[in-house]
Amino acid sequence: MKKMTLNSSPTSLRKLEGKVAIITGGASGIGASTVRIFHENGAKVIIADIQDEVGQKLADKLGEDVSYIHCDVTQEDNVAKLVDTTVHRHGKLDIMYNNAGVIDRKLGGILDVTKSDLDKVVGVNVMGAFWGAKHAARVMIPKKNGCILFTSSATTNIAGLSTHPYASSKCAVLGLVRNLTVELGKHSIRVNCVAPFIVATGISGTRVPAKAIETMATSWANLKGRVLKADDIAKAVLYLASDDANYVSGLNLVVDGGYSVVNPSMLQTVNRFLSLL
Ligand SMILES: NC(=O)c1ccc[n+]([C@@H]2O[C@H](COP(=O)([O-])OP(=O)(O)OC[C@H]3O[C@@H](n4cnc5c(N)ncnc54)[C@H](O)[C@@H]3O)[C@@H](O)[C@H]2O)c1
Repeated sequence: MKKMTLNSSPTSLRKLEGKVAIITGGASGIGASTVRIFHENGAKVIIADIQDEVGQKLADKLGEDVSYIHCDVTQEDNVAKLVDTTVHRHGKLDIMYNNAGVIDRKLGGILDVTKSDLDKVVGVNVMGAFWGAKHAARVMIPKKNGCILFTSSATTNIAGLSTHPYASSKCAVLGLVRNLTVELGKHSIRVNCVAPFIVATGISGTRVPAKAIETMATSWANLKGRVLKADDIAKAVLYLASDDANYVSGLNLVVDGGYSVVNPSMLQTVNRFLSLL
């Protein structure tokens, strides 16, 4: 039976008409928002994740241009098969968005780091990014065209926002992006990443309600009166994936409302001091 499609944007306004995209970690959070926004913009999307039920449900809801494939990004053979299945199904791969990511649960310091934390965080965030880039490049290089994207983090731009394993893993992603930009530029392949500030998704694995996370993040944020949502990140990814970013490569697009370029602590201390005089 033909599935209903929710894609209602007029064709002329769709920024990814005719493109084929893979989104890892596409079952939830930032990935799921990007799946919806890419679909609305005319792309055929493959959701690659390990949350099979949630991923399949999202694909079923969006219609025939969106499908789900189980893929553990830490396993090279899973990623190779994901890319090959996509090309077999749709004839090509235009956009590879390496977004799957995890954080370590223990918010400790260097003395608390364990091998299992490192294996998990580096395995998904760094190794997963490598396999995604390698197998996307394998099919994009002969075509002399393509766009490879990653989710880094605001931790690439400012220190002290997360644990050492997570911050290191995201700086490694940025290193990979920059180096790949050099190698793949020769083949007309663009490479970029998006660096989000705090978004209330399921990544923390805690039972803290989204509203509470947003309230906490807003109290630190530079840009007041707004709340950063997964859709805001997805729209930045859409820009990088689309022809609007035709000559953009090697960019870490920071979506943090200016947080990492502002340090109001001195002015606040001076004002507090002056108010006591
Ligand atoms: N939420 C934030 O505040 C924030 C900030 C900066 C960066 N990020 C990054 O954004 C990306 C998306 O995270 P999110 O916040 O949407 O969290 P999320 O937990 O909602 O999404 C992460 C997705 O990755 C999938 N995943 C985990 N391990 C996997 C594996 N081995 N193979 C395939 N898929 C796997 C999960 O099932 C999930 O669907 C991550 O890379 C994360 O590090 C998030």
